[in-house]
Amino acid sequence: MTEKATLSIDGKQFELDVYTGTENERSIDITNLRSETGCITMDPGFGNTGSCFSSITYVDGAKGILRYRGYPIEEVAEKASFVEIAYLVLYGELPNAEQLTKFSSALREHAPLHSNLRTHFSGFPESAPPMAILSAMLNLVSCFHPEVLKVNVQGEAFDRTAALLLSKVRTIAAWAYRIANGKPINHPNPNLSYCSNFLHMMFSEPYQEYVVSPVIEKALNLFLVLHADHEQNCSTSTVRVVSSSRANLFSSVSAGVCALWGPLHGGANAAVIEMLEEIQQSGRPVTDYINMAKAKNNSFRLMGFGHRVYKNFDPRSKILKKQVHDVLKELNKEDSLLDIAQELEEKTLQDDYFVSRNLYPNVDFYSGILMRAIGIPLNMYTVMFAIGRMPGWISNWRELHEHKQRISRPRQIYTGETTRAYVPLEER
Ligand code: CMC
Repeated sequence: MTEKATLSIDGKQFELDVYTGTENERSIDITNLRSETGCITMDPGFGNTGSCFSSITYVDGAKGILRYRGYPIEEVAEKASFVEIAYLVLYGELPNAEQLTKFSSALREHAPLHSNLRTHFSGFPESAPPMAILSAMLNLVSCFHPEVLKVNVQGEAFDRTAALLLSKVRTIAAWAYRIANGKPINHPNPNLSYCSNFLHMMFSEPYQEYVVSPVIEKALNLFLVLHADHEQNCSTSTVRVVSSSRANLFSSVSAGVCALWGPLHGGANAAVIEMLEEIQQSGRPVTDYINMAKAKNNSFRLMGFGHRVYKNFDPRSKILKKQVHDVLKELNKEDSLLDIAQELEEKTLQDDYFVSRNLYPNVDFYSGILMRAIGIPLNMYTVMFAIGRMPGWISNWRELHEHKQRISRPRQIYTGETTRAYVPLEER
């Protein structure tokens, strides 16, 4: 780090360090800006604010590049299992055969939930949103595993806690669906793979074991791999902010689930399907909806379009679009919503409003159609995203602790009243 940036304020010059990452992205260090100049920076939404140094995931929004620990998303999406990718995101390297066996057996071991947790599940009403159940139950798991509240981020204690969380999130998610639909829960089956076990816990019925189709298992695996991490997005930043107070891993990821729930983030995958269904039911041309999204006085947005970082294309969306076609073909299914989605994409690609603002389909645009194809119900789409994102959240939690990062505490510029005297009630 030899480069410097110069800031001129009140006729004085200040030298600021410039940091360069391994992919040559640059940042100006303002750590001492306030103490030296009396000024803070202003960046609502943090579009230009680096909050950490990280070696987990690299995104180049201009070129449409996404890499986990250096491995391109296109390659891992085609070749890797979610369990391998979870290991990679957590530990920095792909596992060898022995490491993978050990990691998989830890996931198997931790799949069951404490029997007392079932009492809590039964307290939720049938219509409870599975995202609310997931967030609540993740926090609650720590009550049954007091050792996780004081987990050392290094060594075996971390390994155990990470595996426990990665495994239990899947059981909780499937049980949330069963409970919310008034169905009996299914216990995990230790003989099944990560994805098959989830599908079994979701869809097996009493005396009717769900038979996992390899096409569906592969599609689910791909979905989870594509969601494993995405650097400092809203939910991961939330996990980091919560962790920075030295909160435990479970409460931190529980907060991450809440951040993910919103329709501008992970909730977009369900919102896309609701939008496509509305377009279909209305019988109106898609251009009506495109015009609505463009109108300045209308808050309507095309869900599944746009991204803070990707300004060319989202590589995950390209992979998902192809996967949707392959899966529908292999399952011999059709989905009329896919036609509407493709028409929307084609029309927006020729529309100056979308082109000039770099608004392209993001990961959530085609993922809902993939979920529909493999039989996942609408209210579970964002839960599926949360299962996929768990390795990224855990890894960011650990990285923050390893870097001994200070507590997150942004500043503000106050715009309220200046000092004034208290007015007694009878004078107001
Ligand atoms: N439809 C219509 N106009 C849009 C859209 C959209 N989906 N997204 C952005 N714009 C316009 C926006 O109105 C603004 O126009 P103008 O410059 O005239 O005011 C411009 O594009 C820039 O938008 P922004 O809101 O400043 O962009 P942002 O980086 O703050 O927000 C976003 C990014 C993803 C929240 C936003 O594009 C959006 O709301 N998209 C729809 C929801 C969605 O699909 N979310 C999933 C995000 S990807 C996966 C994930 O994170 O979960």
